Amino acid sequence: MKDEVDTREDRVANLKGMGCSRKRVEDARFTQGKGNYVDDIKLDGMLFGDFVRSPYAHARIKSIDTAAALEVPGVLAVLTAADLEPLGLHWMPTLAGDKQMVLADGKVLFQGQEVAFVVAEDRYAAADGIELVEVEYEELPVIVNPFEALKSDVVLREDLMGEGGSLPDGAHGPRKHHNHIFTWDAGDKEPTEEVIANADVVATESMYYHRTHPCPLETCGCVASMDKVNGKLTLWGTFQAPHAIRTVVSLISGIEEHNIRVVSPDIGGGFGNKVGAYPGYVCSVVASIVTGKPVKWIEDRMDNLMTTAFARDYHMTGKISATKEGKITGLHCHVTADHGGFDACADPTKFPAGFMNICTGSYDIPTAYLEVDGVYTNKAPGGVSYRCSFRVTEAVYFIERMIEVLAIKLDMDAAELRRINFIKKEQFPYQAALGWEYDSGDYHTAWDKALKTVDYDGLRAEQAQRVEDFKAGKTRKLMGIGLSFFTEIVGAGPVKNCDILGLGMFDSCEIRIHPTGSAIARLGTISQGQGHATTFAQILASEIGLPADSITIEEGDTDTAPYGLGTYGSRSTPVAGAATAMAGRKIRAKAQMIAAYLLEVHDNDVEFDVDRFVVKGAPEKFKTMKEIAFAAYNQAIPGIEPGLEAVSYYDPPNMTYPFGAYVCVMDIDVDTGVPEIRRFYALDDCGTRINPMIIEGQVHGGLTEALAVALGQEIAYDDMGNCKTGTLMDFFLPTAWEVPNYETDYTVTPSPHHPIGAKGVGESPHVGGVPCFSNAVQDAFRPFGNTHTNMPHDHWRIWKTANELGLHG
Ligand code: CDP
Repeated sequence: MKDEVDTREDRVANLKGMGCSRKRVEDARFTQGKGNYVDDIKLDGMLFGDFVRSPYAHARIKSIDTAAALEVPGVLAVLTAADLEPLGLHWMPTLAGDKQMVLADGKVLFQGQEVAFVVAEDRYAAADGIELVEVEYEELPVIVNPFEALKSDVVLREDLMGEGGSLPDGAHGPRKHHNHIFTWDAGDKEPTEEVIANADVVATESMYYHRTHPCPLETCGCVASMDKVNGKLTLWGTFQAPHAIRTVVSLISGIEEHNIRVVSPDIGGGFGNKVGAYPGYVCSVVASIVTGKPVKWIEDRMDNLMTTAFARDYHMTGKISATKEGKITGLHCHVTADHGGFDACADPTKFPAGFMNICTGSYDIPTAYLEVDGVYTNKAPGGVSYRCSFRVTEAVYFIERMIEVLAIKLDMDAAELRRINFIKKEQFPYQAALGWEYDSGDYHTAWDKALKTVDYDGLRAEQAQRVEDFKAGKTRKLMGIGLSFFTEIVGAGPVKNCDILGLGMFDSCEIRIHPTGSAIARLGTISQGQGHATTFAQILASEIGLPADSITIEEGDTDTAPYGLGTYGSRSTPVAGAATAMAGRKIRAKAQMIAAYLLEVHDNDVEFDVDRFVVKGAPEKFKTMKEIAFAAYNQAIPGIEPGLEAVSYYDPPNMTYPFGAYVCVMDIDVDTGVPEIRRFYALDDCGTRINPMIIEGQVHGGLTEALAVALGQEIAYDDMGNCKTGTLMDFFLPTAWEVPNYETDYTVTPSPHHPIGAKGVGESPHVGGVPCFSNAVQDAFRPFGNTHTNMPHDHWRIWKTANELGLHG
């Protein structure tokens, strides 16, 4: 028998379990054009719906005339708020506890807002119908600046005003002004102010983390199909959280949840953009119910960029205090958060500013205070975590800039300043001043490895020489060394702290082992390109001793998958990955009993060994997991039910805290403002590494999106509230041309509470990458008096900085 001649090493390799750079199983499908995305779904008699959108950022709707549109051949219906109102569906709840118009109800609050939904036999007829819907608008004053919004007499959200102009509380407590949404704080205000007031050194800075957009290659969309005979609604869509969508659809439509099937097929990137609920989903469902036919809605690129969930838009002001030697003593942060026309941020309920309170970063800062004010403006709603865990990107950018600003104030090396303030290995689990308990970390080891690998001292010497050469007129290129050290916080729950719309944030895995020793595992998460079908099978292979190639992973169909909260915030590995390991362990526990029975020994006399149970002390006596699986279905075993299945719902005890050390070496041409990235080194610690190749791919992707955000990507508005960056001609999406070669590296600090010690990784490179690219630009100008300039550092802004610093002669 092959099993008997295979070495243990062969058996481990055969599993392709954890630690193996297994090739992505999903790519056979994707690279041959056989993916099945929402827009690939074609049903008999399917109709197509699309929106009439507002050209104005703020206007009252005087009238909507749909008559001419209804005359267009192929146009079947035009829905307006008046049609949805009797169903109570003209407004919908947002994930942030606010409510949002599904179709314009009396007024519009941002350019591109959904005004009417045209349903037609095909998308071309729908487009023709859209042209003929006549909407009479009365323009209102537009506010695109949150500071002005807080001073303005113009009331953006008239629906939130009380009797006689009073101001009722919002979802997160009292509101200070009619355009104010909430104030949220964390930490100790007075002690922090006192520490800062009495400090040796205080550095202050204001920075704007500009509005940007996740911009997945596949835009958002859905197909709704109401089967009126059976009373069943099926909704295929680009959903990062299919079960949550099912619950929300049930709550707002009144259709019982068992009669709703939500399916997320293949998804072409999400990055936070596909977490929330959009008017297109509601209108498609209503249109399908009204017409009795399936209705598809697919955004185009402009719809996606201009109207679906934006990211960031945080105006941050910081004060950081330290001793003369550079030991940080206090941190104060205030944020004015621009949420646009509706508060549709995707954050756990108790965290209206997400996990911004991880803004003390990787540093042992004894006293800190954070205050965030959310504000309404005439911009599109959103505020999602674009490749990060709930505002962690903003938090890490803030602290990594504050460290650089403090280093300038102290006239100190920024790498050394970080080193003397890192939380030490022996301080973990570490209780941070703003409330988090960091589970594990070894920052000094990672930092030393990073600086040694890039020859940091050598780089600084080269940079000093470059400054001399520049001053002597020998070069027009400056050199920047970007540093960043980040700690992410990923894996929401636990349920007691984190919920979305009251749904606790656990996750799940259900495994069925087939008699012949292959298996299917279903999870509550959904891959959007991260390779879950590959990596979750690897976790199981190691846990249950069946080859990963014999395990199918299925996600995204609420009729078959166990309830879960979906994939965003790098939560899949920390939460569903843990559920997978735990379900695997349940399988193993039952397999142990079966093996003991088959081997005629006591349960405790057998032990697991790679792919089998062996009798302790007698390794020649064993039963492979394949044999055990067969026995589970074919042998009557006293006291043991037939079958081999398990399910686990995992409520994580804490988040996981991956971290990393990044260095970027950049040359900047002061005359053209063009940055050239000469070297980018990224060390990531995501605990136990399941698939090193996939991790590397995640790091490359995250860094590329970081490069985009830091160096050009922006959703910008003019004073009239016109979105100036609604196409890929204006919105920077990096290509192979702009992307440098990335050097990746790692350390391994397992999470102490995760069953396999794994932490998330998908978002880390984005979180750490943005400040690293930005710091490189800022560092190039440091010798010439620069302290801080705002992102995005596109060629024009870099040139402007050089000009303002007098570098153009
Ligand atoms: O939630 P999401 O899938 O976006 O992020 P993640 O949990 O960080 O996982 C991204 C991909 O990296 C998945 O395929 C994971 O299985 C893989 N990964 C890994 O191989 N090892 C880790 N320690 C963490 C993630």
